[in-house]
Amino acid sequence: MATMAGSEARRTLPTNSQWLFTKAQRLMPGGVNSPVRAFRAVGGEPLFIARGHGSRIVDVDGREYLDYVLSWGPLILGHCHPEVVGAVERALRDGSSFGACTPGEVTLAERIQEAFPSIERVRLVSSGTEATLAALRVARAATGRDKILKFDGCYHGHSDSLLVKAGSGVATLGLPDSPGVPRALAELTVSIPYNDIAALEEAFRRYRGELAAAIVEPVAGNMGCVPPQPGFLERLRTLTAEQETVLIFDEVITGFRVAYGGAQQLYGVQPDLTTLGKILGGGLPVGAYGGKARLMDYVAPAGPVYQAGTLSGNPLAVAAGIKTLEVLRRPGFYAGLEATSQRLVAGLLAAAQQAGVPLTVNRVGSMFTAFFSSRPVTDYVSACASHTARFATFFRGMLHGGIYLPPSQFETAFVSSAHSQEDVAVTIEAANRAFAQCREPSG
Ligand SMILES: Cc1ncc(COP(=O)(O)O)c(C=O)c1O
Repeated sequence: MATMAGSEARRTLPTNSQWLFTKAQRLMPGGVNSPVRAFRAVGGEPLFIARGHGSRIVDVDGREYLDYVLSWGPLILGHCHPEVVGAVERALRDGSSFGACTPGEVTLAERIQEAFPSIERVRLVSSGTEATLAALRVARAATGRDKILKFDGCYHGHSDSLLVKAGSGVATLGLPDSPGVPRALAELTVSIPYNDIAALEEAFRRYRGELAAAIVEPVAGNMGCVPPQPGFLERLRTLTAEQETVLIFDEVITGFRVAYGGAQQLYGVQPDLTTLGKILGGGLPVGAYGGKARLMDYVAPAGPVYQAGTLSGNPLAVAAGIKTLEVLRRPGFYAGLEATSQRLVAGLLAAAQQAGVPLTVNRVGSMFTAFFSSRPVTDYVSACASHTARFATFFRGMLHGGIYLPPSQFETAFVSSAHSQEDVAVTIEAANRAFAQCREPSG
């Protein structure tokens, strides 16, 4: 497994990752192209990754890690799944982009519609951020209203309207929202606690007839994994329907992850619009938004709402997506993923208990977060009550043991179909050692 031991002499020299990070900091803000990659929440320097295969990645120093980040969710089949690689190679030989209609787009749109019956029409874009900002624009156009409702700790990409009480890297960095977001726009965004039905009812009373959209992660992933409490999504559906507010399920993480048909299939609640990304592109950049035809027909050129993209429906990304979905539909796929994830989480809980470390693990299918907290984590406030310093110690212990976890307490870890029983056993062994380092000193 991990080749962690280096000679004493080598230890004093910078690693290749450290050398690259020093250089990167002179070239890119914070040395990275997305904030949480910088490891600021856990200390130390980020790894630079050279390659990945199956459940493992290898850094530029030749160290191997079991990967539970999986590119933040897209790689449900693990790295370099041979069928996905084959599909992308074939597509590339025919041309990487045309900025014109291609057959693959139609196939992928059809697959999306089969998986999500609530999606009657869909538009492909290139990222989750693009999908959510366009979905909001459609909701505002269709209702003629400006205000939107979101939930504390839910992240929906970095568009201006949605960078208000967002989780994810924003939670990690402790930014309440971002400078540069016009106050006038932020004031149109109402954010209330996740899973709080009383707050939900109060918001709909207070802003009666004013809310264009309510956008929610139906399983939150950006304050760590937080499932919806029974009745929460249902009440949200009823209230939005009553006031003709567009209900948007942001399934960028949960789509094809918690079930083939996403959280809406798992919980049996149908939104008006859905946003997708991550798994849909099989590791290449894709997003999508779709839903009721009467709403989607506002989108140009069918309607007046402008939204476009040079690389939208890119043939390589579409080929990766189609092939990924084909593999996901094979019998037993989700049952296998569930069994691996269940075993892993049970092992982590047992290891923490043995070490006397209070731990609460939230899991929905193959997404999970181990919160360093003895209390249930049901919303942003309870997520923030976690012992983040202890998480950082655990993270570094796991990394040392060859296990790559998300470098923040407020992110979800993922399991792929490439993770084997042996991988789970190796992870739990590493966790036994890492939890031991997290114990309170016995005085
Ligand atoms: C739920 C959710 N929505 C939207 C986004 C934004 O997607 P992207 O990073 O592809 O812009 C993310 C990103 O992690 C996400 O988790």
